[in-house]
Amino acid sequence: MINHLAIVGATGAVGREACDILTGRGIEPERISLLASSRSAGTLIPVGGTDLPVLELAEDSFAGVDYAIFSAGGDRSKQYASVATAAGAVVIDNSSAFRMDRDVPLVVPEVNPGDLAVHNGIIANPNCSTIIMNVAVWPLHKVNRVERMVISTYQAASGAGAAAMEELRSQTGDYLADRPIKPGVFPSQCAFNLFSHNTPIGPDGYNTEERKMIDETRKIFHDPAIAIGVTCVRVPVLRAHSESINLTFEKPITAGEVRDILASAPGVEVVDDVEARRFPMPIDASGRDDCMVGRIRQDVSQPDGRGIELFVCGDQLRKGAALNAIQILELLAS
Ligand code: A2P
Repeated sequence: MINHLAIVGATGAVGREACDILTGRGIEPERISLLASSRSAGTLIPVGGTDLPVLELAEDSFAGVDYAIFSAGGDRSKQYASVATAAGAVVIDNSSAFRMDRDVPLVVPEVNPGDLAVHNGIIANPNCSTIIMNVAVWPLHKVNRVERMVISTYQAASGAGAAAMEELRSQTGDYLADRPIKPGVFPSQCAFNLFSHNTPIGPDGYNTEERKMIDETRKIFHDPAIAIGVTCVRVPVLRAHSESINLTFEKPITAGEVRDILASAPGVEVVDDVEARRFPMPIDASGRDDCMVGRIRQDVSQPDGRGIELFVCGDQLRKGAALNAIQILELLAS
C-alpha cells in the first residue's frame, strides 16, 4: 500500500519513465508528488490518465510522503535524501551517492531482494550497466560460481540524461546536414562516433563507470572475490545498453546448459536464433522490461570448458533505472 509517492527528478529521462511504468504496472498511490527544479514548476506530466503539475523540490516537499524515488543526480540526493527520511519517507535513490554505504542495500530484485530487509530509510538503485549485466549473469553464478568476467559495454546516450538524448538527436541532424558539430553534454561528438565513457579515470586506470560495475556487482552478489575486468564505451544509441560478457566459471559448463538456465531466469529473454540470425539488438530492447541475452557460446579461448561468451541488451531507462526502482518499491510496499 502506497499512500503518497514522490518522484524527484520527474521531468528527467528516468523520472518520466518512472511515471509511465507506474501506470503500466497498476500502481496507484493515493497521491503522487512530481518534483524537479524551479525551471519545471508547473509543467504537466501525464500519470495514469491525469496530468499532474511538477512542483519545485524544497525542504518541505516530503511531508506525508511514504516513498520517494530520487532521480535528479547525486547532489540532489545528498542534499534531500536525509530530508525525506527525516519526514518518514523511504528513499529509493537512483544516484551513486549512497550505493557503497555499508548500511544502504543495493538491490536488483531478481538477484538480492532479501537485502531490503534491513535498511536505514535509503535503498540504492544500482548503476544501469551493472543491473543489466547482473540480471544475465546472476542465474548462472547461482548454479556454477563465476570466478572471473570480462565485460565491454556499448552504452546509450540516455545514461547521461534527457539532454544527452537530445544532443544525440540534434547532432545526428547536424552531421547529416553537414553543419558543424558542437559537443555540449558529452565531451566528444556522439553522433556517428563512440568514445570511452566520460567519467573521471582513477589511479588504477579505470573510469568511474567501470569501477561502479566492479564494486557494485561484488556487493550485490555478496561475492567480494569475483574478478571483474571492464571497459565502458558510449555509443550513438538512444536508450538501450549492450554488453559483451566473457565468463569463467568455477566448473565446466556448456552453452546448452547456459541457454537452459537463462530460458527460465526472471527478467531475461533469450534471443539467440543462429539460423534466423536473430540476436539481441538495442533497438529491440528499447521500451522492454526484459534484458535480451544471446550469442551464447563456449569460449574457444578457454579449452577447459569453463568459459562462456554472451551478448546482452537492456533498456537503460527501464531495467537499468526506473523499472528496477519501481520493482524495489513494489517489494517494499507489499
Ligand atoms: P529540471 O527538468 O527541472 O531541470 P536528467 O537525468 O534527464 O538530466 O534529469 C535530471 C532531473 O533532475 C530533472 O528532472 C531535473 O529537473 C532534475 N533536477 C536537476 N537539478 C535540479 C535541482 N536543482 N532541483 C531539483 N531538481 C533538479
